[in-house]
Amino acid sequence: MDCFTRVLKKSDLILTKADAAQAKRALATKGKTCLVVVDEGGVFQCVLTKGDLKRHNVASGSIEQVYNRSPKHIVSASEEEILTQARNIFETYSSINKIPVLDAERRPISFVFTRRNNTMRNNTIDRNYDTWNDTYEWVADGDEWSVAWGSQKAQWYGALYPRIAPWLPAESVLEIAPGHGRWTEFLIPLSSKKYRGVDLLPNCADFCKRRFSEAKHASFFTNNGLTLPMIEDRSCDFVFSFDSLVHVELDVLKSYVHEVLRVLKDDGIAFIHHSNAGEYLDLYDENIPGWRAPTVTASLVKKFIEQEGGYVWLQEKINWIVDECVDCLTLFGREECYEPYFVDNELFMLEAMLTKTRINKYWSAARKF
Ligand SMILES: C[S@@+](CC[C@H](N)C(=O)[O-])C[C@H]1O[C@@H](n2cnc3c(N)ncnc32)[C@H](O)[C@@H]1O
Repeated sequence: MDCFTRVLKKSDLILTKADAAQAKRALATKGKTCLVVVDEGGVFQCVLTKGDLKRHNVASGSIEQVYNRSPKHIVSASEEEILTQARNIFETYSSINKIPVLDAERRPISFVFTRRNNTMRNNTIDRNYDTWNDTYEWVADGDEWSVAWGSQKAQWYGALYPRIAPWLPAESVLEIAPGHGRWTEFLIPLSSKKYRGVDLLPNCADFCKRRFSEAKHASFFTNNGLTLPMIEDRSCDFVFSFDSLVHVELDVLKSYVHEVLRVLKDDGIAFIHHSNAGEYLDLYDENIPGWRAPTVTASLVKKFIEQEGGYVWLQEKINWIVDECVDCLTLFGREECYEPYFVDNELFMLEAMLTKTRINKYWSAARKF
């Protein structure tokens, strides 16, 4: 049985003295099935589920009248022990699929959960091929995905370039999954000797060949969605992928981590945007907003990088569409980082909103009619 853990957020907690209306509002968030009840010292008391509120049909008054007073919980131990205890509980009690984990002071720290109805269809390479080749219409060649930032240019200069500017320009740049070239437009002039783009779809590679035909140092290839045989070992200074690999599952990321570390020069750097939705499967059981890959988490990607002998320089988990950090930006290389950094940035979409309402105004002013 697959078990996952997720760090608890403030919004997962409710105070014993809260009333039912407050609990109802907290549980109204899409996908939220239960709250962990704590006293004013933050000590675990019990669990309150949507079902508890429904069964007792209470609209107001203290939540004490409804909650489960002897809920299953696990007192923190090693990761392995937590998962073993959780599996035993899930196998014994078929109605339980989520258990709070407490620290030694009985303060809730995380959830361990399982997916019983595994109805979620994974984002296989074939599904990606069909989606981007047949279903998706590319109405503005990808710029339509930049609306939250106001425009593609505002997103590049407001959100992407500030994060990767330390490594650009670079002699040799590789972009994985450029699509119709939304970021390629910026990356080609920042590649002083060579730009290469590799996409699963012949349609996308052909589109980019036409769009960037004047850039003599740029070339585009199609691959099998897993490997990069056309790129020689240790030939890239900068590897980039944004808004593509969020849709691919763990097997694909594992393969790309291996390939990226193979093609990076010793002092090269990769900036890869991928899913972290695996951390939130309890919230988004069947339908993860933005078609994020459910099997991927930031920590699994970090583990693959380290297993392949690479080093994570920075991991920034970011929110996307929803409040939770269902995505991640991972910066990694073959060399060790002087000061690695790990952060949960739940303000990424707020950054987008500020970019749209401030920085994008300059791009609008500069537009020629
Ligand atoms: C949502 S589009 C984004 C394109 C571009 N990065 C952008 O932001 O405009 C996803 C792209 O990823 C490509 N893709 C999907 N799975 C892939 C894989 N396993 N390997 C390479 N490309 C892939 C698709 O063909 C498509 O071009």
